[in-house]
Amino acid sequence: MSQIQSDERKTIVLTGASRGIGHATVKRFSREGWRVITCSRQEFADNCPWPAGPEDHIRVDLSDQEDVGYAVSEIRQRLQANGSRLHALVNNAAISPKVEGGGRMDSIKTPMHLWRDVFQVNFFAPIMLARGLFKELQTGKGSIVNVTSIVGSRVHPFAGTAYATSKAALNSLTREMAADFGPAGIRVNAIAPGEIETAILSPGTEDMIDDIPLRRLGQTSEVADVIYFLCSDQSSYVNGSELHINGGQHV
Ligand SMILES: NC(=O)c1ccc[n+]([C@@H]2O[C@H](COP(=O)([O-])OP(=O)(O)OC[C@H]3O[C@@H](n4cnc5c(N)ncnc54)[C@H](OP(=O)(O)O)[C@@H]3O)[C@@H](O)[C@H]2O)c1
Repeated sequence: MSQIQSDERKTIVLTGASRGIGHATVKRFSREGWRVITCSRQEFADNCPWPAGPEDHIRVDLSDQEDVGYAVSEIRQRLQANGSRLHALVNNAAISPKVEGGGRMDSIKTPMHLWRDVFQVNFFAPIMLARGLFKELQTGKGSIVNVTSIVGSRVHPFAGTAYATSKAALNSLTREMAADFGPAGIRVNAIAPGEIETAILSPGTEDMIDDIPLRRLGQTSEVADVIYFLCSDQSSYVNGSELHINGGQHV
């Protein structure tokens, strides 16, 4: 006899939920009544404002391939409560190493071990999770959102080369995944934020505001709203896109 309690809520798996854009995304989906399974390196913090957090938090280091494998099997097990259906996977966690003082780490000086870590967290972990959860996403007619960046398409004063190229690769991967996952009813899109007010920003970002047509930084809730749109039925024919969330900075 199964001891698993049934759960009828829609379910999202979200990496990098502990801060910034991920944190705002948990709040958005929780507000809409979704079950949110969060993944990050830290333990669930008791002061987090949503119910049922600790049971639905998975501690994983995405820079460690073995740990990602373990997380996939743990997630699959926890999804049994709702018929192994997954409605959304949001690959949000990322690392962006900088030189001291927050400056750009260029292609000549970036140590090879950092290139490897950045690509593992920002690029390989998303495809490992998506492949590992393919069946659950298919059953839930799920939506995958890969969080890329404006720096995937241009040199940026603070974002390092490894970070920028990992985001460009993730955008290309989104296109390939949209083709491969689409026939299973799984949509795959990317969102590319510009300058959003979070801990990842370097000192001096405020000086870039003059180059942003809307003349302000973005808020994490504004990014979470677009992620929610891409995981909802409102975007049921959107597949293989990269949406810019940058106040027009890319123009
Ligand atoms: N902020 C911006 O302006 C901006 C602009 C463009 C794109 N983005 C993208 O938006 C996403 C979120 O950015 P953010 O600014 O909200 O980032 P953030 O505040 O730096 O948060 C990063 C999240 O990723 C998790 N994380 C980092 N390394 C991890 C690892 N090895 N294993 C598991 N989890 C890990 C962190 O949790 P733990 O520390 O608990 O592990 C944290 O929850 C990223 O993909 C970023 O590239 C942000």
